[in-house]
Amino acid sequence: MSFPLERVRADFPVLSREVQGKPLAYLDSAASAQKPRQVIEREVEFYQHGYAAVHRGIHTLSAEATEQMENVRVQVADFIHAASAEEIVFVKGTTEAINLVANTFGRTLLSPGDRIIISEMEHHANIVPWQMIAKERGLHIDVWKLTPEGELDLSLFDSLITPQTKLLALAHVSNVLGTVNPIETIIPKAKAAGLTVLIDGAQAVMHHKVDVQALDCDFYVFSGHKLYGPTGIGVLYGKAALLDQMPPWEGGGSMIKHVSLTEGTTFAKAPWRFEAGSPNTGGMMGLGAAIDYVNALGLDAIHEYEQELMQYALAELAQVPGIQIYGPANRAGVIAFNLGKHHAYDVGSFLDQYGIAIRTGHHCAMPLMSFFGVPSMCRASLAMYNTRDEVDRLVAGLKRISQLLG
Ligand code: ALA
Repeated sequence: MSFPLERVRADFPVLSREVQGKPLAYLDSAASAQKPRQVIEREVEFYQHGYAAVHRGIHTLSAEATEQMENVRVQVADFIHAASAEEIVFVKGTTEAINLVANTFGRTLLSPGDRIIISEMEHHANIVPWQMIAKERGLHIDVWKLTPEGELDLSLFDSLITPQTKLLALAHVSNVLGTVNPIETIIPKAKAAGLTVLIDGAQAVMHHKVDVQALDCDFYVFSGHKLYGPTGIGVLYGKAALLDQMPPWEGGGSMIKHVSLTEGTTFAKAPWRFEAGSPNTGGMMGLGAAIDYVNALGLDAIHEYEQELMQYALAELAQVPGIQIYGPANRAGVIAFNLGKHHAYDVGSFLDQYGIAIRTGHHCAMPLMSFFGVPSMCRASLAMYNTRDEVDRLVAGLKRISQLLG
């Protein structure tokens, strides 16, 4: 069955608007994906007819909202095949999820002298929280180097493991290069060496199926907004046995069992222990709708369509004079490039004049920019709603910019 591209595009209202007098070609979904009306409507519906504070009231609306929120937790667990909904912590996004793990697992279950492995392709969100906790706790960070093509140099893995190495924190898919790291083979090796494994799935969950039990990772994190859901909602998956050992991070309402001014506080069990304050329930409803949307299409069908478009785009872009494309041939979601010596901002600004939205800059991956010896890159992302026509417009735009800028 062919992918229902026209129907999908019709579900995303923003895709029919114009930018700079031209039809929008939105090629920036890796930064943040657009939302289908089903997501927008579910959130609106919740606020119009079902909204109340959760976990706090005996009244009907509060009980209904709480039930709906917990239903989304079950849905998320099913989406990534977690063993239980209690392994799903709602957070603001990937960044908060990694900060939570660094500040709880990192602060209490890692000891001075312990070592953490991250890779050279990580997003700042999977570098900076580790640097911060490393400084505070006297931990060391070892960096897994890349091959010139922008893949993990697998031959180096064994040399990174020492008796003090306790954690591997690794992107599933690079947000710049689209490199799909072979975590299916890396995780068993890391586990055999006694490491805890955190996978940053921010750029992965929208492109292919993820099964956290099959992977056997300890933590898997992702954001709702890149999965066609709302901003401000994300997921930390953690194995129950680990979450149960981790202390809370933020204190406040909803995360306690009992509070006494004289005897102190006891905490709720995981995952609620990690969800202080009034949560983003509207975002959760939208996330649930986004998962429904993706499930209805099927991640296998999405993957097949996106891969076909990716191969087309890589072949067409290769025809642009002076283009330098970064990263391996097999990739998901993104194509980073530079055009001759032109600054990425200039290229991005010209493309915007043609109605084409891409991301430019360091992509929150400065170490990766250093690896390639450039200050910035252009990045076009391909999502399930993008078309060959949009790729053709990108290619034509780049050829025109090449001529104009010389
Ligand atoms: N992390 C997002 C990106 O890669 C913002 O663009």
